[in-house]
Amino acid sequence: MTLYSLTLVLALLVLAQGASFGQDERLRYDNYSVYKVKFETREQRSILRKLAEDRENFRLWHEAKDELHLMLSPGAFGELETEMRKTNVTAELFISNVQELIDSEEAANLKASRDGSFGWTKYNSLAEIYAWLDEILAAYPSVTESFEVGQSYEGRTIRGIKISYKSNNPGVLIESNIHAREWITSATATWLINEFLTSTDELVRDLAENHDWYIVPVLNVDGLVYTHEKDRMWRKTRQPSDISSCIGVDPNRNYDSHWMENEGASSDPCAEDYGGPKPFSEPEILAMSEFVISIKDKVNVLLAFHSYSQLLLSPYGHTKEEFPPNFDDMMEVAKAYGDAVESLPYGTVYRYGSAAGILYPASGATIDWAYNEQGVQISYTIEFRDTGRYGFILPPVHIIPNAEEALIGIAALLEKCKDLGYLALKSTFTRRSAEFQSLLKMRLLWLLATLVALTSAGILKDSAKERYDNFRVYKLTIQNKIQLAAIEKIGELTKKYNIWKEYDERSKQVDIMVSPGELNHFQELLKFNNISSELMIENVQERIDEEKVTPTADSATFGWTKYYELEEIEAWLDEILKAYPSVTEEFIVGTSYEGRTIRGIKISHKAGNPGIFIESNIHAREWITSASATWFINQLLTSEDADVRNLADNYDWHIIPVFNVDGFEYSHRKDRMWRKTRQPHATNACIGADANRNFDSHWLENNGASSNPCSETFAGDTPGSEPEAKALAEYLTKIQDEISVYISFHSYGQYLLSPYGHTKEEFPENYNDILTIGKAFADAIEALPYGTVYQYGSTADVLYVATGTSVDWVFNELGKKIGYTIEYRDKGRYGFILPPVQILPNCEELMVGMLALIEKTKELGYL
Ligand SMILES: *[C@@H]1O[C@H](CO)[C@@H](O)[C@H](O)[C@H]1NC(C)=O
Ligand SMILES: *[C@@H]1O[C@H](CO)[C@@H](O)[C@H](O)[C@H]1NC(C)=O
Ligand SMILES: *[C@@H]1O[C@H](CO)[C@@H](O)[C@H](O)[C@H]1NC(C)=O
Repeated sequence: MTLYSLTLVLALLVLAQGASFGQDERLRYDNYSVYKVKFETREQRSILRKLAEDRENFRLWHEAKDELHLMLSPGAFGELETEMRKTNVTAELFISNVQELIDSEEAANLKASRDGSFGWTKYNSLAEIYAWLDEILAAYPSVTESFEVGQSYEGRTIRGIKISYKSNNPGVLIESNIHAREWITSATATWLINEFLTSTDELVRDLAENHDWYIVPVLNVDGLVYTHEKDRMWRKTRQPSDISSCIGVDPNRNYDSHWMENEGASSDPCAEDYGGPKPFSEPEILAMSEFVISIKDKVNVLLAFHSYSQLLLSPYGHTKEEFPPNFDDMMEVAKAYGDAVESLPYGTVYRYGSAAGILYPASGATIDWAYNEQGVQISYTIEFRDTGRYGFILPPVHIIPNAEEALIGIAALLEKCKDLGYLALKSTFTRRSAEFQSLLKMRLLWLLATLVALTSAGILKDSAKERYDNFRVYKLTIQNKIQLAAIEKIGELTKKYNIWKEYDERSKQVDIMVSPGELNHFQELLKFNNISSELMIENVQERIDEEKVTPTADSATFGWTKYYELEEIEAWLDEILKAYPSVTEEFIVGTSYEGRTIRGIKISHKAGNPGIFIESNIHAREWITSASATWFINQLLTSEDADVRNLADNYDWHIIPVFNVDGFEYSHRKDRMWRKTRQPHATNACIGADANRNFDSHWLENNGASSNPCSETFAGDTPGSEPEAKALAEYLTKIQDEISVYISFHSYGQYLLSPYGHTKEEFPENYNDILTIGKAFADAIEALPYGTVYQYGSTADVLYVATGTSVDWVFNELGKKIGYTIEYRDKGRYGFILPPVQILPNCEELMVGMLALIEKTKELGYL
């Protein structure tokens, strides 16, 4: 006992040298920051890992093949900078003050605990979790059973719950919170338990009743208590070491399977991934191993919950030179999980692979031991949200979205396991796959919280349309000018290629669509030029077809669960104008090349309001933009939210939902991928110009557009050569005194872009304000549960040089001080063909972003 207290004191002293204890004895992380450090070579990695051994100043948060996430003490940036310079690596700041995140997490927890009940709006302590578990066991005695895994080092009981609705079910074991600071894992595990017992959703019932669930919500009980009471960032167990004053072992490196091989764990007792003095040195892990052995004949699947980084990791962890015999099956199963999660409106992307292959060698992990030593053939580590923005301190608003993702992912994973025969071994149960698929769909619709029905309207009108069967979209990473030149060259071959997203200096990436006939040549070219690529879309036509099979409320009402054609949008606009005659007014910008009227709506609740102008769908294929614009109009007129009312009542809104009317119509009728206007060229067979490169401001300077009429960024023959752009410039000139802010809606890439587009050597004189407003917009969106990240900055700086855009013209020629281009979701997974299920989430993001943007703009005196 005395020895124990002494070691504890020593350990606290060691820790106290790093961060400091506050009055309540909890370790504080004031001004601690987290950086994402990218590296390329082994040498760089080992230098960085060495740095992380300086535990007073650095803590490893996450490690992958090509990056480390390091937490730094306030004074340590200089040291990191020196190492970065020496090793030629780059770092990006992710979290500027860790304590701030911990404080807001705690505030959310406090607020949520006021109602006294267990819920998923906060992170619960071990005592709360166990009390809740007792209630659940008492409430569902016939289908639940309590079990004890064993005792922890500090003498706490490690508890679990078995849920079984009938005999002969295949078994699924969930191990959670083996790493103490990964609070989202036990929150997700308890949410799943609750769903299995209480949900009436058919998908959940099916999952719950046709599998036996063994769930250990908190394995590292001592560690979890310690994270709540002393140190939010604690990861390991709490058993002291015989050879060091540092406490604890990484329990997920302590199983007896390839223990400590290939540097898959550290032998330094102070390291976060210390493997322990011997395998099973930790009482928690010894107990868990004995528990697994006792039920191994009943367990088909083992899932270990971790955070963070959105990964599904399979064995092997100890080597990337070899793969398990059923690796292909495991990848198929992992893909099913990832695809299911991606089909949710949150747009969260999971990657998958073997642990050693996708991350780095890690030995002695639960899943490897279960797979290698106990014959559990399907065994995964699931790393939950996010990818580093909040890291371990995931805000409580993410708990339910993350849990829903886990639920739908696990459902798809088990379905695939069953298809592949991994559940049949221990079960006699069978189920039709198609039925299950439709249940999955139902769940998605339920999540949309709309009463919907499937319809395939529109599919028959397809014959005369451009088809994109087997067209692929690749994301290329460009390393030098020669590679870029090669890609820009093929980008001009517009029959074979189509640049979806131009080269962007920061990410060094280009998204390009490739026709099937050109694929071999394209791959040779990549190889020849040593360009690395990632396949984003395997069959563009498939995505287009999926887009059309959309759930729609009632075909008689306009909603935001599908994309509408021009005629439908205009009819809706007419209705709106009729329904709100006293505050709305139509305006006409002019006439398109093909003779269509370009219409807008002005919403004004009182005289003397400052004006905000929104132009949308200048690029035809960016359908999410007009969907968002119409939704926004509807909100301004119908919302009862006080903040939205403030926006509506105190500003005049001038909104053009579809600006490029000809192109938009063409994208619906003929070619989903059409971007430009529809005016033919005098000397060239290619049609149309990029209307957003056609305005008379630095027109065609600095290669900010193309002079090739076939290019997607053709600037037109002269500034204002496109009747649409010319009409808009004239209209804006006429009403310039009525507007203070100009916004243009685009997709995709998740950016808020500001002037200048024509150069990154210079910035507007109010650029700091522009960035402050941009940050407000991006922060507001990130605070939503979707976890969508927007970048912001000047177009030329953040993306690429682009000239003659509407926003730059308004800024430079009309002298308006605030103008932005919003590039909506996503980052390339679906690109322009954003699934309709993402319309509403995108709109929600727009609204919170816009509220923050306008508030900040006003605060800075521009409104
Ligand atoms: C954190 O940094 C800010 C700004 O540099 C400083 O004002 C503040 O005192 C620091 N807080 C602590 C606890 O060191
Ligand atoms: C870093 O880059 C410089 C110049 O690019 C080079 O001279 C130096 O050898 C590099 N250092 C390392 C450690 O790679
Ligand atoms: C191709 O790129 C890789 C790094 O991405 C590099 O190691 C290799 O040397 C390059 N090969 C050639 C032929 O440039």
